[in-house]
Amino acid sequence: MQIKKAVVPVAGLGTRFLPATKAIPKEMLTIVDRPTIQYIVEEIVASGIKEVVLITSAGKAAIENHFDYSFELETFLAQKGKRDLLREVRNISRLIDVVSVRQKEPLGLGHAVMMAETVIGDQPFFVVLGDDLVVSEVPCVYQMKKLFEELDESIVAVQRVPENEVHRYGIVEGEEVSPGVYKVNRLIEKPSPGSTSSNLAIIGRYCLRPEIFGCLHRTLPGVGGEIQLTDALSTLKNERALYAYEFQGSRFDAGDKLGYLEATVHFALEHPELGGPFRLFLQDMISKLS
Ligand code: UTP
Repeated sequence: MQIKKAVVPVAGLGTRFLPATKAIPKEMLTIVDRPTIQYIVEEIVASGIKEVVLITSAGKAAIENHFDYSFELETFLAQKGKRDLLREVRNISRLIDVVSVRQKEPLGLGHAVMMAETVIGDQPFFVVLGDDLVVSEVPCVYQMKKLFEELDESIVAVQRVPENEVHRYGIVEGEEVSPGVYKVNRLIEKPSPGSTSSNLAIIGRYCLRPEIFGCLHRTLPGVGGEIQLTDALSTLKNERALYAYEFQGSRFDAGDKLGYLEATVHFALEHPELGGPFRLFLQDMISKLS
């Protein structure tokens, strides 16, 4: 079955990035020359998915506006003959069709995903977190889409994390059924030390069958009093199968201050015009450090 829609939850409060996120959504913080959310949407589009369901909350209108047509701005740029900028601004609004759904209270990622039920219906779909960047030759969403065509079961993207970071993630335990693909037999949200020997952490890419909605309805608040997607996935794996996929590429948690800085350096070095001079600047900085 073809996957046509991606749900992008952006309704969180972004407390790890305060005070920057008091009035600005963390997904709108700029990485070099684009807001984080644009990198996310570009990955979705590059994977052949055209419809994005944004789960938003009060104060997140800037995200919807970013992907909307801006008559005033486009007219101004056209009149001034700024063709390159006009093309760039137009391309953003033509990237995707956006549907927005409000999450009225930040009751957790699982709750946010539940808000998409009527828009998604009885189809498989992606959940792509608005602050988790993946850099890879083949887009991560596309890698998962291909795997879904083989397995026809829900898949979570995972990466190995250092022992001392395990407690920050949803962790999966499972048996490797083919290189980098695991059949999940246990999930633990933010495990306490010693409660798992696995370091396979779920990152912000999920390919889900619609049965997840029934599981979410039956999920009670878990860690932090929030309705956790990981808990609903735990139910799903008992009713159908659930797989974990060690994707090809690297990932930056841009919702975290350090992750955001790392992403900025990565994308600045990759930038066609800024990469060269920025590399020289960094080399100079590093030589002064040592
Ligand atoms: P995070 O925990 O990373 O985001 O949730 P947060 O809550 O915004 O940030 P902190 O932890 O307070 O700094 C993962 C994703 O789930 C979304 C967030 O927007 C983020 O993309 N989310 C989380 C919701 O949409 N609704 C929620 O109730 C919770």
